[in-house]
Amino acid sequence: MKADVAIIGAGPAGLLLGHTLRQAGVDVVIVERHSAAHVRARIRAGVLETVTTDLLARLGLADRLQAEGLAHEGLLLADGDRLIRIDLAELTGRHVTVYGQTEVTADLIDAAPGRGLPIVWNAESVTLHDIESQTPSLRFRLAGVEQRLDARFLVGCDGFHGPARAAMPAAIGRTYERVYPFGWLGILADVAPCSDELIYANHPNGFALASMRSRTRSRYYIQAPLDEVVENWSDERLWDEIVVRLGPEAGARVVRGPALEKSVAPLRSFVFEPMAHGSLFLAGDAAHIVPPTGAKGLNLAASDVWYLSDALIGWFKRADAAGLATYSDRALARVWKAERFSWALTNLMHRFPDHTPFERRMQLAELDYIASSRAARTSIAENYVGLPL
Ligand code: APR
Ligand code: PHB
Repeated sequence: MKADVAIIGAGPAGLLLGHTLRQAGVDVVIVERHSAAHVRARIRAGVLETVTTDLLARLGLADRLQAEGLAHEGLLLADGDRLIRIDLAELTGRHVTVYGQTEVTADLIDAAPGRGLPIVWNAESVTLHDIESQTPSLRFRLAGVEQRLDARFLVGCDGFHGPARAAMPAAIGRTYERVYPFGWLGILADVAPCSDELIYANHPNGFALASMRSRTRSRYYIQAPLDEVVENWSDERLWDEIVVRLGPEAGARVVRGPALEKSVAPLRSFVFEPMAHGSLFLAGDAAHIVPPTGAKGLNLAASDVWYLSDALIGWFKRADAAGLATYSDRALARVWKAERFSWALTNLMHRFPDHTPFERRMQLAELDYIASSRAARTSIAENYVGLPL
């Protein structure tokens, strides 16, 4: 097999990049470890910035998003008793769109055959070769048979655990990491949301988030110990805790229902620099992880794709190498600001095992400041809707 660009991974990053390059006439092949059914069934975040919705619109793949996505012009921070509204529309003139990542992925996978975007599913043991040359390749097994894909460039869109980042020589890279001492226990249920807008709650028992996928499907999370087992949380116990943590006003409006899905996810901040070496580029979770508190993971993958697709199209269509040379620095400048925002919002809203009453008071003072200061709310709002590209 041969391609201009070989992409490892058919998550949001790989699919968005694959479609964008394909639309510009660049020859690309995506190689994915799992089946299409597996990738489509993954339940992840659901808040899209305009970088992400604009990318889908530019691809002509935003019809369902525009019909079914919910425009959110604000969000709420809860500090026990009070709800503090961050008015995104008034403070920034922009909004975010609530539309499940599961749906984004489905839309991109469904459109691939019609647009001549080849995706190799169920590729086992993918390895990267000759990344420092101009003739790199991927090798993998398909139904037990060895395969080889030659390309001019390789792009690792293979998530945090994929082989691409590991293929960079240890001496050229540096990692920055913070692992948080708790996780999020999530529940998905076919019940009406308790609020028209998302609520991020700081409660003495720990963080809670009220989110949604549609007007009839809700997604809630609570902060939980990392070693928490889902089996300890009956639906009833989880609903009781969600109601308490969201505070009296929102808690009273929570509609309960059977869990469609329940799981615990860890929280991590992570950046690998640089995002390019030789003929290999990284995009999305392969290069950086944010805790989910700012809903930035998928949107950062989209902004990487924005920069990298531009650079690769420049190289193939205009013989312009400048974009590829600056990709890593451009992408990282935006990544670090999103890392800062996700980390700050995580610190503000969670209960940490080593917190003393002093740190708790600092959180409450900051929330009180946010409630009283337009400048503080503007800072949160402009980060939440997404900083400029
Ligand atoms: N070979 C081929 N594919 C692989 C391999 C491998 N060895 N390892 C991982 N992959 C695939 C995964 O199966 C997955 O489909 O790479 C894909 C990576 O997708 P994501 O983990 O979703 O990462 P990314 O596309 O960067 O998404 C960024 O979306 O899913 C969220 O949490 C994620 O918010 C983040 C954003
Ligand atoms: C979600 O709906 O899954 C969600 C929303 C906002 C976040 C994180 C997750 O910050």
